[in-house]
Amino acid sequence: MNLRLFSQFIPKKSILLPTAGRIRYVSNKPCDLYLPATHVVKDISKDQTEFLDRAEKTLLPVYVRPQEIVLSHGEGSYLFSASGQKYLDFSAGIAVNSLGHGDKEFIEVLTQQASKIIHSSNVYHNEHAAKLAALLIELTKRDGGLGWRAGETTSDNGKGAKVFFSNSGTEANEGALKIARMAGKMRWSAKTGKPWDSPDSECDKYRIVCFEHSFHGRSMGALSVTNTRKYQAPFEPLLPGVDVGRINDYSSLDALITDKTCAVIVEPIQGEGGINSCEESWLTKLRERCNQTDAVLIFDEIQASDCGLYRNGSLWAHSQYEIECHPDIVTMAKPLANGYPIGAIMMRDAIGQYMTAGTHGTTFGGSPLACALGTHVLSRLSHPQFMENIRVNGEHLDQRLRRLPEWFPHILQRDIRGRGLIRGLGFVEGKSPTKLVELSRQRGVLLLTGGADAVRIVPSLTITRDEIDKAVDVIESALMLM
Ligand SMILES: Cc1ncc(COP(=O)(O)O)c(C=O)c1O
Repeated sequence: MNLRLFSQFIPKKSILLPTAGRIRYVSNKPCDLYLPATHVVKDISKDQTEFLDRAEKTLLPVYVRPQEIVLSHGEGSYLFSASGQKYLDFSAGIAVNSLGHGDKEFIEVLTQQASKIIHSSNVYHNEHAAKLAALLIELTKRDGGLGWRAGETTSDNGKGAKVFFSNSGTEANEGALKIARMAGKMRWSAKTGKPWDSPDSECDKYRIVCFEHSFHGRSMGALSVTNTRKYQAPFEPLLPGVDVGRINDYSSLDALITDKTCAVIVEPIQGEGGINSCEESWLTKLRERCNQTDAVLIFDEIQASDCGLYRNGSLWAHSQYEIECHPDIVTMAKPLANGYPIGAIMMRDAIGQYMTAGTHGTTFGGSPLACALGTHVLSRLSHPQFMENIRVNGEHLDQRLRRLPEWFPHILQRDIRGRGLIRGLGFVEGKSPTKLVELSRQRGVLLLTGGADAVRIVPSLTITRDEIDKAVDVIESALMLM
């Protein structure tokens, strides 16, 4: 249609937005269709009261959960509560349900594999672990990462990679830190000619560098590099030898990372910390400094970090960067098996060579069921059409979100954080991200907070354009009420 002709039909308070080859009009004022709260449960049923009583008496109270929701089932991008409320899920189990809820093909693989073999231990090989490891390495070569330029599939120039499967992100990071400690000792030995394992060893290459607002997990090792006071304080003393820097601070790197550093762990996009992105040029400097000091560089891409596994539009957040900043180790978890527990550490052979039989292990990690599901999920996420959908929908989400700080400058910071389908709305001082999460939930949309000052938007990767529009409409109405 001729644009001038077409413009006659556009409501006066609207603007034109070109999206993915289509022209659509977008209102130039916030949506006010969702001002009334539709999902406030006034009378909690007797059954639910009993359930909540039981939960209070029996579950360790380390979470604050909304009392009105007891989840019963899910379908696609929607979750349903036992009392019959339907919620549009823009939290995806904290960036986990990559294929949404109740995906038929996923369930088919799950039931078939469960009927064959679920668990066998790492004492024996199973048919699926090496298959998933090979797929991860193949896709890293195809899409770029861990030192490979995208498309370096034919010749690996002597560069290879190894994978270790765990059960969670925390466990993957814990293992990565152990591997880096081992590498540090071996490298120190090679440099000094002294043994690292004698009882009076002088080996001092064991320090670990992490960054402010990081989140790497809650076990003692991972917690020691999770630089949030409220998470760490009750459990001190933590691992000794941890140094804390600030992302995108160039001037401190030389003093921060020294010959005593064995590992540097960083999220290329901080998730829990509030969707803060590292600059590529800073990551390149970080890599350079790790090379100078022989420190192992670990990228935690667990949330898809918040960013890996296609959430940000590519396999790894660092797939979009030059190889000069690529890490030695990448850790992953959350979406890899669409909610079935799995984690993994993938490392360059140059690092993997230090690990020998007995130096690390797990009972459940790499089980036939977890790896069959991981292979299925990864094969689907990495399909070019699927990746294109994430790109197009990520762009649409971006266009919708970018208007919010213009309309609500008294609530929101100017820049929308993150990329692809991992986005963050930063709040100005004195305004509460928790309030937006609550108001949206009362209008049927589930969001997450991120750090102290942000709301996180991490829908399933199968989210549709209409669902994005609905969620942002609700967010707009909720912001009007703040
Ligand atoms: C970046 C990052 N690393 C590690 C973890 C810990 O993963 P898990 O909860 O699977 O142990 C998380 C969890 O949110 C995370 O976002």
